[in-house]
Amino acid sequence: MERTPIIETQNLVGEEVNLFGWVATRRDHGKLIFVDLRDRSGTVQVVFVPSSQSTYELASKLRSEWVVRLKGKIKARPEKMFNPDIPTGKVEIEPLELEILNESETPPIALDTDGYETGEESRMTYRYLDLRRPRLLKNLSKRHEMILFIRNWLSKTGFMEIETPILTKSTPEGARDYVVPSRLYPGKFFALPQSPQQYKQLLMVAGVEKYFQIARCFRDEDTRGDRQPEFTQLDLEMSFVDREAVMEANEKLLIGLVNSSYPDKKIQEVPFPRISYKESMEKYGTDRPDMRKDKNDSNLLAFCWVIDFPFFSAEGGPASGGETKWTFTHNPFSAPKPEFMDDLLNQKNIGGILTTQYDIVLNGWEIGGGSIRNHRPEALEAVFKVMGFNKDRIEGNFGHMIQALKYGAPPHGGIAWGLDRLVSILQGEPNIREVMAFPKTGDARDLMMESPSELDEKQLKELHIKVAHE
Ligand code: AMO
Repeated sequence: MERTPIIETQNLVGEEVNLFGWVATRRDHGKLIFVDLRDRSGTVQVVFVPSSQSTYELASKLRSEWVVRLKGKIKARPEKMFNPDIPTGKVEIEPLELEILNESETPPIALDTDGYETGEESRMTYRYLDLRRPRLLKNLSKRHEMILFIRNWLSKTGFMEIETPILTKSTPEGARDYVVPSRLYPGKFFALPQSPQQYKQLLMVAGVEKYFQIARCFRDEDTRGDRQPEFTQLDLEMSFVDREAVMEANEKLLIGLVNSSYPDKKIQEVPFPRISYKESMEKYGTDRPDMRKDKNDSNLLAFCWVIDFPFFSAEGGPASGGETKWTFTHNPFSAPKPEFMDDLLNQKNIGGILTTQYDIVLNGWEIGGGSIRNHRPEALEAVFKVMGFNKDRIEGNFGHMIQALKYGAPPHGGIAWGLDRLVSILQGEPNIREVMAFPKTGDARDLMMESPSELDEKQLKELHIKVAHE
């Protein structure tokens, strides 16, 4: 007999079904034993009575989280016994056969709650149990649904999904790199990508024209509610486009995604309003303004674009008794707005140069950012010169990019969304950990796998590494 997902029992009154799942709860009422049986799709109540001796005896042994197969008949509940809280609340199962497939030790964390009240240490140590909560399984399934929509939408509009390397090169891109020692080249290291930025631009040089990837990114930064050391971007890049074209494509995709996965949610304003960095700072005191007109409405989505960021910000300077050092505010590969290209090439008016950078903000969270890139080598070189890099450093860090731009690189631009952030907001979660299967803790560890962990002497030796214990 085939398996029936528990959620379907609500529509199958009178039929016999074969259910597989976990014991969510067992309650004894007088002589009756009530078991809530749970699978990925939902839970349903099973009522064991003493007159069905064999199943009843076995049922009296059941404990939370035991795994069972249950053959039973679906019966309508009398109206006064309806449970309005669950979709299967109008039915219950009369057991015909019960088989215990596996027992379970008493779970170290309560699983019949939403989990917010449980400490992070125990939730993360026993993440495989924590994930059994319907709330978390729902988050994972929504995430899956959204990724599927994105993949289909982009594929239909001519984007090609391409994987890029995880073992790559350490370059100063903003955050600290995670590095991987090389066994074959003593003293040399790979770095894990902070984003696929350089590869996606190289794919534009290669003639791909429209690329995307659901890409894992790694940044050795302090973990916060909206920040993980390892996170996922929807990364995309397009050739022969201007800023408008990239923003328009992304706006369409975001609206399509919300309409398809969250039809009950309301987008406050379409087209998404745009605000300059300057105005945002003056009006809201932040570059990721929360534009919601009603912050109590959990279904309201206020998207906005923040544009016209300064390209460079100054560190030090005469005021602090030193020379001004410039650094990029977002991305060294960005192009300035066309009217500032001369300034960049001539290295003047540096503090006044605006970039083509656009950030997409949703309800006060930065959910993505991108720009049009410098596709001419002299413009990219100029960015590094403004930052005070000498020829050797430019060559050592970014020589491959400048070289590639010399072979007919098309004009191009793109964006990356923080997918974890977007899913959290849409799911109404306060923290991106709630929408990731196996996130790191606040102090950047995986308590379930106990990583990071030490290597044994032999591995260290092979990697030419000596650990300096301080
Ligand atoms: P950026 O660094 O702005 O741009 O990253 C894009 C988006 O990724 C999300 N994000 C994060 N999410 C979770 N944890 C983190 N540690 C984290 N860091 C960033 C944010 C952010 O808006 N290569 C460029 C994109 C481009 O120019 O195309 C990039 O990575 O939502």
